Amino acid sequence: MCGIVGYIGHRDAYPIVLNGLKRLEYRGYDSAGIALYDGNELKFSKTKGKVADLEKKLESQISTNGTIGIGHTRWATHGVPNDVNSHPHFSNSGDLVIIHNGIIENYEPLRQELINRGYTFQSDTDTEVLVNLIEDVKKKEKVKLGKAVQIALNQTIGAYAIAVFDKNKPNEIVVARLGSPLAIGVGENEFFIASDASPFLEFTKDAIYLEDGEMAVVRTHKKIKIRKIHDDSLVDPYVQELQMNLEQIEKGGYDHFMLKEIYEQPEAIKDTFRGRMLVDQGLIKMAGIDDHIDKFINARRILIVACGTSWHAGLVAEYIFEELARVPVEVEYASEFRYRNPVIDKDDVLIAISQSGETADTMAAIKLAKEKGAFVFGVCNVVGSSISRETHAGAYTHAGPEIGVASTKAFTTQITVLTLIALQLAKKKGKISTSDFHNYLRELEAIPQKVEKALESNDIIEQIADVYKNAKNCLYLGRGFNFPVALEGALKLKEISYIHAEGYPAAEMKHGPIALIDEEMPVVVIATLKGHYEKVVSNIQEIKSRSGKIIGIVTEGDVDVKNLADHVIEVPDTIEFLTPLLTTIPLQLLSYHIAVLLDKNVDQPRNLAKSVTVE
Ligand code: F6R
Repeated sequence: MCGIVGYIGHRDAYPIVLNGLKRLEYRGYDSAGIALYDGNELKFSKTKGKVADLEKKLESQISTNGTIGIGHTRWATHGVPNDVNSHPHFSNSGDLVIIHNGIIENYEPLRQELINRGYTFQSDTDTEVLVNLIEDVKKKEKVKLGKAVQIALNQTIGAYAIAVFDKNKPNEIVVARLGSPLAIGVGENEFFIASDASPFLEFTKDAIYLEDGEMAVVRTHKKIKIRKIHDDSLVDPYVQELQMNLEQIEKGGYDHFMLKEIYEQPEAIKDTFRGRMLVDQGLIKMAGIDDHIDKFINARRILIVACGTSWHAGLVAEYIFEELARVPVEVEYASEFRYRNPVIDKDDVLIAISQSGETADTMAAIKLAKEKGAFVFGVCNVVGSSISRETHAGAYTHAGPEIGVASTKAFTTQITVLTLIALQLAKKKGKISTSDFHNYLRELEAIPQKVEKALESNDIIEQIADVYKNAKNCLYLGRGFNFPVALEGALKLKEISYIHAEGYPAAEMKHGPIALIDEEMPVVVIATLKGHYEKVVSNIQEIKSRSGKIIGIVTEGDVDVKNLADHVIEVPDTIEFLTPLLTTIPLQLLSYHIAVLLDKNVDQPRNLAKSVTVE
């Protein structure tokens, strides 16, 4: 959470930093700030609110010249969102200015120590402590900024991606990372610093991703030197060519990123299996799996760790792996797993799922599993992300950048990758016949077209959204493969429309939630023909007899649910374990339209951030 941006070179830093902040706003948007050195003095502005508010404030407040600058968009951890707690933060002398993404956990004792030494603080933030610690070290040890940053960071516990510069030496920015991402764009005598590469895509395709525990002094007209923070050893910079383009991170005519990303799913799913699924040859080729297939075949069990929507994808995968490959699977919230001394051994395979590849809890779970000897496989969307680098092997989802904070295409592409893995494993273990394997591949290949068909219900869904937009609560029910989809549907509604929603296994409803049902309660029921249809129809009858309102997600041509439900939304037929890829679509659209009708900020829901790099 929090986005950081910096620039040093020959161009005006202001527009680069400001546009960069707009692109990183998905990471946090409760306050924003910017600092620039204009050749004479350090100019800054910061404000509670969005980058647009900062921009307005800047128009009236400061001249925006200067070729060195840093900016920050915040998701509050220490201290409420207000102008004072916004970044950048300054050292007591006013010389040093810093932006920070992460948490300094031992900031309280460090702050006390600095207060004892005469330092004062304006804000409640850990970041202001860090910048003063750097200043203190710099003065005490009489060292340059880079060295002072290194010594100071070695006294901290926690996570950070920082950029700091000294107004008296405005030809260098010192950057460092531990646990929060930091990319450096390398141009001709100019450098860009950012939490991800999106702020500098139009300027350079060459990027260096700092690894955990690394720092660099970025100077114009100099090659970058990267060092390990703890022992000062030099690291060879690895310059990577970016594959992303600008179009991918723009709205492309849609009102919101979320809608664009919902509509991108047919292509995204195709991109996920492109080159991996060779339907004519009846083959799946995935280097990440094929190179380690023995680990998977011999696995005592598969553990899946993830958070949020990715955790829901993990639950779908549990059903698919157990059905196809007959291997026991356990799915865990990464945040619980990491703190409960789990029993893991070297015969376990752990699959970590993360769109961003940066989620702190998922990362910690991976480290724990590795320590205990498990083989760790990552399913990430962001190429080069921390999790993709920390795992022993992995498979990217290739969904393209997901910018809407509510995850959509990441979910369906995660399920697609995990289905490919389950199919490959089932085949290698001899758990499915060759003809079934071929049929499954053919059906998976048909899914993008069927997703397109499911998207055609958009107008009907918008009308249904209008009927229920003022609901206070909503229940989502599904069984089997579609139980996790019910959870995901409820999560989508909660996060962007702020309507309370719960997902339940349909049969579990009668053990409690049924008490909530009355004529005010919309119940979304996933009732596809394949998947305990008759049982779900009985559950619908139970709701109807208590006057609940039913929105049924049904298979094309359905009759029984249509007769019972208040509304139905059809999805094409497919084999049972692939239904989540279709039933998810109307649920995404339903929550999208409700949020739009309620005039909520769809792409940037309150209190949320796209990349959760704090625990
Ligand atoms: C919900 C959502 C979150 C994320 C969760 C994990 O729409 O986006 O629940 O799924 O924060 O994030 P990743 O997948 O990046 O690890």
